[in-house]
Amino acid sequence: MSDRETAATAAPALDEATIERWVEEALAAVAAAESTAQLKRVRAQHVAEKSPLALANRSIGGLEASRRKAVGALVGQAKARVNRALAERETAVAAAELATQLVAERVDVTLPVGSTPVGAPHPITALMDDLGDVFLAMGWEIAEGPEVEAEWMNFDALNIGPHHPARATSDTLFVEPLSSHLVLRTHTSPVQIRSMLSRPLPIYIVCPGTTYRADEFDATHVPVFHQIEGLVVDRGITLGHLKGTLDHLAQVMFGDVRTRIRPSYFPLTEPSAEIDLECFVCRDRRRSGAEGECRTCHSEGWIEWGGCGVVNPRVLAACGIDPEEYSGFAFGMGVERTLMFRNGAADMRDMVEGDVRFSQALVGGAR
Ligand code: DAH
Repeated sequence: MSDRETAATAAPALDEATIERWVEEALAAVAAAESTAQLKRVRAQHVAEKSPLALANRSIGGLEASRRKAVGALVGQAKARVNRALAERETAVAAAELATQLVAERVDVTLPVGSTPVGAPHPITALMDDLGDVFLAMGWEIAEGPEVEAEWMNFDALNIGPHHPARATSDTLFVEPLSSHLVLRTHTSPVQIRSMLSRPLPIYIVCPGTTYRADEFDATHVPVFHQIEGLVVDRGITLGHLKGTLDHLAQVMFGDVRTRIRPSYFPLTEPSAEIDLECFVCRDRRRSGAEGECRTCHSEGWIEWGGCGVVNPRVLAACGIDPEEYSGFAFGMGVERTLMFRNGAADMRDMVEGDVRFSQALVGGAR
């Protein structure tokens, strides 16, 4: 069988009526299609490769020369009609589909917004960041250390001997077994030791961090609390540098307030002092002419803020630093206490209970 005969068999009746019937069937299918997907099927069935019209088109070459032109024109026009109808319908259906989709996915921008509260950073976290920033601005670095600490770092290296009251089990939370000689750090001071052992001199660091003690849980004590430690080791460091640094910190934290350093005792510093803040509750009461005892400072006029001093030469020596060449100062204060003075938080229990209203009142509103 020759090619011509095959084509003739596949599309035997290429007369006007047959072609017209194909076109009408195709147009009816186009009109009935209601979706882009259905139109795609109509196109495949009526104009694509294996459709009668496509087969007819291919068989034109096999016709007698006298008929080719006329049949070619007929098939061409038929295809054009179907294609035009398809294109029009496709545009209309696509527009209708888009309109339906827009209605279905409509967002009412006038609806009230969700009332999910955004929360706030914890005031202690926010304050530790602020405290750190004061020192970063002066070119100091932030140092860190582990909360589960070697007893030696937490005590011995800081000149707190084995019989010092700070080592009694009533204050310190020891990690079992006791032979591990690990404790939950009772202060941030071990970070001084870690810094001196690992950093090149000079050292200018602060360490805001979490600390632990076997304390009561009441308005002024919580067993998990926070301190900020500071340490400077350089040539020619004096008590004057310490006072200037703490005055600057007090100004940034509390505004216009006087400070004093008062002799005290800490094993890690010699001489040691306590840094006090002028009681601003008293000061403001005096200014407003109030009488009676001040409950914040018991009318002392000063409130304790933290401990400080000149780094004990024995501590420098324990870290391999020559006390003849270098000297330093150190300080440590409670972050919770600082928050109480700064933001008027009266009860430390509020700081651990996790009520977002407390955070929002102290941080969310203030920021
Ligand atoms: N670590 C001491 C404490 O928790 C506070 C302290 C006192 C820190 C004197 C210091 C310091 O750096 O020099 O009670």
